[in-house]
Amino acid sequence: MDKHSSPLETAYALLERSIMMHNGQPVGTVAACDPEVVAPNYEECFVRDFVPSAIVFLLDGKYDIVCNFLVAVLNLRHQQKVMAGHQRAPGLLPASFKQLNDGTLKADFGDLAIGRVAPVDSAMWWMILLRAYVIASNDHELVQRDDFQEGIRLILDLYLKESFETSPAMLVPDASFMIDRRMGVYGHPLEIQALFYGMLQAAQDLLLPNDLNARYIDIVTKRKHSLCSYVRIYYWLDIPRLNEIHRLKTEEFGEDVSNVLNIHPEIIPDWMDGWLGLDSGYLVGNLGPSRMDFRFFSLGNFLSILLGLATDAQSTRIMNVVDSHWDELVGEMPMKIVYPAEVGERWAWVTGRDPKNVPWSYHNGGNWPAIIWPFVASAIITGRTDLAERAMATALQRLPVDNWPEYYDGRKGSLIGRRANFFQTWSATSVIIAHRLLENPDALLAFQQLFSPVPDKIDVG
Ligand code: GLC
Repeated sequence: MDKHSSPLETAYALLERSIMMHNGQPVGTVAACDPEVVAPNYEECFVRDFVPSAIVFLLDGKYDIVCNFLVAVLNLRHQQKVMAGHQRAPGLLPASFKQLNDGTLKADFGDLAIGRVAPVDSAMWWMILLRAYVIASNDHELVQRDDFQEGIRLILDLYLKESFETSPAMLVPDASFMIDRRMGVYGHPLEIQALFYGMLQAAQDLLLPNDLNARYIDIVTKRKHSLCSYVRIYYWLDIPRLNEIHRLKTEEFGEDVSNVLNIHPEIIPDWMDGWLGLDSGYLVGNLGPSRMDFRFFSLGNFLSILLGLATDAQSTRIMNVVDSHWDELVGEMPMKIVYPAEVGERWAWVTGRDPKNVPWSYHNGGNWPAIIWPFVASAIITGRTDLAERAMATALQRLPVDNWPEYYDGRKGSLIGRRANFFQTWSATSVIIAHRLLENPDALLAFQQLFSPVPDKIDVG
């Protein structure tokens, strides 16, 4: 770090450096500007990593790059390779893309990335960002174009397709979102449900009211509502609910059962004992038949606050969890991606003995600066500016000095991640957003409009 520059100046300098040009136009930002990146695809533009870059650009009135990105990613869907015996899924958007020597863009649908998992979250982020772009720029023409309206319909065709589902939540493979290596997050992970909700909300606003779209608007509205009530009721965990689970009747048959998912009380992990305070609660990480993953996944909880999936009362209680477990969840670098880590034999079978995901590292309980922006935004929205300021003070002490690492290791996140990149773009953009929201009331207002949810009116008490 240049010792004369402020942390914000170095963050902005990194963002500038990360911009990817295509045909003389900015089209995205690379994931990391580290000259020794740990894997070659960090030099690509990831859809999810671009979101915080895009928010900075939108807040700064730089709309072109976001527009170019939205167009490029939509067009890249044509590059999807199809395995023999399968059909093309035209609504799938890539995880990342790079520029080849001949100047063309080449997409990766997770088939080249290390984890080899389809990026279910990409199209969700794309749609949420598209709505934010339209709100910020007032460019309604883009979304009214035939290719964009068709793109939205194709995405919905894929994401609303019937499968072997027994709930309104969305079923996905392990590692199909920010956690993109095996971590026992298959099934119905919270982050995917929050993004799904945000995507449906965006689609509702973006689809033009015409005959072709009428069926989509109808189904989106209904699914959004059922997803919302399902998550608010069944994913929610606080002391009264924990007591209920502790005494649940199991093996019930038929229609009027109380234990709809046949959750066995013995599933409650030891660490839950005494972990929740009377005024706190959170949305559990995953839920399915006889399955409740009690781990606290930060991003899923904060996105639920930001996108209006959690009620106001639930949002307040989620922030109380962070407050009361500050050392475990924030520690020396905001923000732990998941708490607690998987250890021992569970680590072995949950991760496939992945050495990058050893306990308290990387996806398995590492601390990720990229989660600062949703944390700070959630804190401000719920009136906990005190928590936002405290987290930022902690982050700013180290991030610029440490050269913007990708993640930190250790129970308290005090060590730079063993295999972390330096100059990770979303570590810097996350801080820029947080800083703007805390320091500039106009930016906060603009930001709130970008994500302005119209919450479903479902009262869960
Ligand atoms: C890692 C992260 C993923 C991110 C990518 C690029 O694979 O798990 O969420 O998009 O790096 O930064």
